Amino acid sequence: MQASEIRTRFLKFFEREGHKILPSSSLVPADDPTLLFTNAGMVQFKRVFLGNEESPSPTRRATTAQKCVRAGGKHNDLEQVGHTARHHTFFEMLGNFSFGDYFKRDATGFAWRFVTDELGLAPENLRVTVFHEDAEARALWKEIAGLGDDRIFGLGEKDNFWQMGDTGPCGPCTEIYVDLARVAKDWSAPAGATGSWTDPSKVDFDTEAFVEGAEAGRFVEIWNLVFMQFDRQHDGTLAPLPRPSVDTGAGLERIAAVMQGVSNNFDTDLFSPLLAAVDEQLGAVPLTDEREVIAAKRVIADHARALAFLLADGVYPSNEGRGYVLRRILRRGVRYAWLLGRREPTLTRVVEKVIDTMHDVYPELAQRRKEIATTTRAEEERFL
Ligand code: SER
Repeated sequence: MQASEIRTRFLKFFEREGHKILPSSSLVPADDPTLLFTNAGMVQFKRVFLGNEESPSPTRRATTAQKCVRAGGKHNDLEQVGHTARHHTFFEMLGNFSFGDYFKRDATGFAWRFVTDELGLAPENLRVTVFHEDAEARALWKEIAGLGDDRIFGLGEKDNFWQMGDTGPCGPCTEIYVDLARVAKDWSAPAGATGSWTDPSKVDFDTEAFVEGAEAGRFVEIWNLVFMQFDRQHDGTLAPLPRPSVDTGAGLERIAAVMQGVSNNFDTDLFSPLLAAVDEQLGAVPLTDEREVIAAKRVIADHARALAFLLADGVYPSNEGRGYVLRRILRRGVRYAWLLGRREPTLTRVVEKVIDTMHDVYPELAQRRKEIATTTRAEEERFL
């Protein structure tokens, strides 16, 4: 299933369940000095969760495909990008939101129906995690999804308590994982890895083996359901929110990997045209290590997406703040292109490909096509 179909199916599924489909907000958060970039679907709804703004939908339910950047600030993935299967500077987060309407029960039911009925994932290939103190979440997974305790892992605050930043709305969460060893045709345990999770035929794990397998990429988290209950204060204490709410986030790139039976997000249809645009520009590549070549191409494909979308939202290269992060992303991309033997602008062509392939969903890309390409080229030339 192509990524565009997953995105559409998600929004339509939640629309049928009374959610209003709302557009993605800008990558530059409106009036929020606590945050460098929009890093999750809930950012545009922060004030609604806090009770300071009315629900944007009369049903108190909404759904979005949200542009996100995690580079700079609290959620900063920049240095990992290219070297792992799932880190990105820019990614799309699919989400459904309840602003004081439904809570844990319906959120769990919707998610389970979407992954099993709409996506058709086999329940035996799914696992979930819950916050270890959240007995209600565990009981709901048992009741609604029929999962046994051996498929539900209780984890601590680091994994299963989500917060947007140092302050603001937060709460315990529950996450859905897919066993890639069972669904991806190319999955294999990393070289030298040991432990029961490295055996693809094994399906029963204790918590420790599951966590190790998740860290090593056998189990991929595709959806995080946050039960928004608190507002984290400056002194670290938790004040209850006026109405318990739901914020969920499902990474489109990860779901695409699962649905396309591949272990690495960069092997999905979201990235293949971009990687092809990198390849078209390469001559003899000086690097001899094939893994380094692949990583460099992935860095360029990833960073081109962030550049196109940040420039479309009015961020310009500069020496401070958001513009500085944009400049760092661009320069990292140029550096990797240099390692591939390029001595002239490379990202510009890839950025144009991002516009070509995504402007139907995000029209701002087409509206600013010229400025995006011109700015990228000028910055590339300057750094070269
Ligand atoms: N805010 C949560 C996350 O980013 C769910 O969307 O994971």
